[in-house]
Amino acid sequence: MSDAALKSASERAAAVVQIRNLVYAWPNQDPVIVIPELNLARGEKVFLAGPSGSGKSTLLGLVGGVLMASAGEIIINEQPLGEMSAAARDRYRSDHVGFVFQLFNLLPYLSVIENVTLTCRFSTRRAERALQQSNSIEQEAERLLHHLGITAELMRRRVTELSIGQQQRVAAARALIGAPELLIADEPTSALDHDLRKRFIDLLLSECEAANSAVLFVSHDVSLGPLFDRQIALAEINEAAASLEPNYA
Ligand SMILES: Nc1ncnc2c1ncn2[C@@H]1O[C@H](COP(=O)(O)OP(=O)(O)O)[C@@H](O)[C@H]1O
Ligand SMILES: [Mg+2]
Repeated sequence: MSDAALKSASERAAAVVQIRNLVYAWPNQDPVIVIPELNLARGEKVFLAGPSGSGKSTLLGLVGGVLMASAGEIIINEQPLGEMSAAARDRYRSDHVGFVFQLFNLLPYLSVIENVTLTCRFSTRRAERALQQSNSIEQEAERLLHHLGITAELMRRRVTELSIGQQQRVAAARALIGAPELLIADEPTSALDHDLRKRFIDLLLSECEAANSAVLFVSHDVSLGPLFDRQIALAEINEAAASLEPNYA
């Protein structure tokens, strides 16, 4: 094998996400995603940019195992998602993926800490990994929240009494607890002003660094790109991009 081939073989072995000839079409539509190849290395922090309507959320749904590819493969930790049963995909999601969304879906009837520890109720693996860091899952939630700038006083409030930026950090702690191999973030900063965006991403990325979580972060705000290890324009890897109508909704 040539040096280049060896290098790419070892890169693939270390990959958390491998995409091969991925095609996705919404029912009765032309494909919105046609991606021949994309790899994410362990711990790699990738920024994926693209305008509204370019397929960012669709791609994240595919990588997160929420949507099923029309053709091609997504391999996570060497396991093809397409070969998993629906139950195995649910397990994969709760064990290995942290999600942070634009609307972050904190549960108003749970405390701040309970919102964060919820992840560990759905995944024994995440609970065990949280307990490798701290003496209890609650303590690990507090540690993460503290690192993300949520003070003890804020932790005692109802989630509805937190600012958007504070709620966003609680949602990040919930995604990060139990050190998932992959953090998927779908425009989580769009409700924050510019300075807060950068601060939030700095905190998020330093926690991902500590947990060695790979990050796939999408946004239409290209000014955030330099904060990441690698920047990708979705239009450059998505062969369906040219035929997509920009959507200004
Ligand atoms: N649930 C859905 N059903 C049908 N079409 C959809 C659905 N969600 C998104 N689309 C279409 O897929 C394309 C990509 O959308 P999306 O992945 O949401 O883009 P982005 O996240 O970059 O704004 C758009 O043309 C959009 O209209
Ligand atoms: Mg979207």
